[in-house]
Amino acid sequence: MFLLGTGTTLAAAYLAACGKEPSAQIAAKEIPVGGAIMIDEVIFAQPQEGVFKAWSRRCTHQNQMITEVEGLTATCTAHFSQYNLEDGTPIQGPARGPLQEYGVSNDGGTVVTTAS
Ligand code: FES
Repeated sequence: MFLLGTGTTLAAAYLAACGKEPSAQIAAKEIPVGGAIMIDEVIFAQPQEGVFKAWSRRCTHQNQMITEVEGLTATCTAHFSQYNLEDGTPIQGPARGPLQEYGVSNDGGTVVTTAS
């Protein structure tokens, strides 16, 4: 446990030194293939095995927090906009704009987002 925490701290320090603050991280194995999971203000998705995406949970309609994911669809229950988590585009309004995408790195099985 101590070693895991140390590795995480080193990864965060490295990213901070590069000017890219990580906003969230998760073990790659926790992200379902063909699905997604929400961590803090980030939605991690794995549309295909080994392909990771990260999106902001902020809805582009009125900036509410997205609260539901099912498969590769995210739903903002404020007014029921839905987004495709392969490309971030809305598939049902009222939202018109795509979700903000974050950069992603896979560091030894830990997927880390960086503000892009
Ligand atoms: S704020 Fe998300 S649908 Fe309106």
